[in-house]
Amino acid sequence: MATETVPEEAVLLPPEELKGYNNESTMRTTKFKGNDIPLTLVAKPFADFEDSCLRKVFSLLFSKHNPHLTDLELQELHLICENMDLEDVGCALNPQYLWAVMPDTCVWTNIFESNEFSVNIFHLPKDMIIPIHDHPDMTGINFVLHGSIEYTSYTVTKPDEAVLCNRVVTTPDMRAILTHKKEGNLHTLLAFEDSSVFQVLTPSYNDEHRACSFYSVTHIEADRYHLSQNNDDETIGNYNCRCANLEYSGIPVSDIFSYIESTTDYRPTADSVLAKAKYIDSVVEKDIRFNGADNQG
Ligand SMILES: [Fe+2]
Repeated sequence: MATETVPEEAVLLPPEELKGYNNESTMRTTKFKGNDIPLTLVAKPFADFEDSCLRKVFSLLFSKHNPHLTDLELQELHLICENMDLEDVGCALNPQYLWAVMPDTCVWTNIFESNEFSVNIFHLPKDMIIPIHDHPDMTGINFVLHGSIEYTSYTVTKPDEAVLCNRVVTTPDMRAILTHKKEGNLHTLLAFEDSSVFQVLTPSYNDEHRACSFYSVTHIEADRYHLSQNNDDETIGNYNCRCANLEYSGIPVSDIFSYIESTTDYRPTADSVLAKAKYIDSVVEKDIRFNGADNQG
């Protein structure tokens, strides 16, 4: 079993180098497998949420008129991600430090999740594969913040058949993997390097109506593949066993929700998942109490 160690990169700067920064901006920590990990020597405070790319992501997601994003909106989301400040989403460090604590694990960080959309970050160690899966009637983006991902996508043409849509390795100049409702909706991801990926899915997965299914493909001829679901396959079980959660450490979720509450009618419900347990305790549960009747139906 791996020894849990604090990564070298997490050593805090000496006090004399912290001049001009408040404690909050220099002492960020995150939780991983129940442990506090000092995260970073922050070179600067968080951007104001109002000015951040994260705010632009949420503005776009709350202003869309359909459950999914149009091609134009996907392009807009892509452009926003191109300017994403890694610090603002808690990803300033190369993710390698995670695997010193928990080797060979796919690490997920929830920033926001509702029925309408989800915003997450996931970290894949080099050579790890996310098996072929679908995104039923969903759109979104996987934007590579660190590393490089090979993704292979398929378009379903019949219930048991698909054609190869795309096979690409991301580069620093091409970091976006777009998810469309039909074209290339199935994909598999392979980490070419230790990688961190910012992910938006809209609408979000839903066990009742939009469950995630895994597949295996068998080559038929040319770009045609036979498709079969393999949700019970040992591979999927192994993949799920190798996932862990990392607490979000970017721009405070309270800032995100203050913005959401001041600009939209959206109010968190029991279906909402927020990154910060503290925030859930103080705000969401209160909201659920106030609106309990609405949440029962
Ligand atoms: Fe996916």
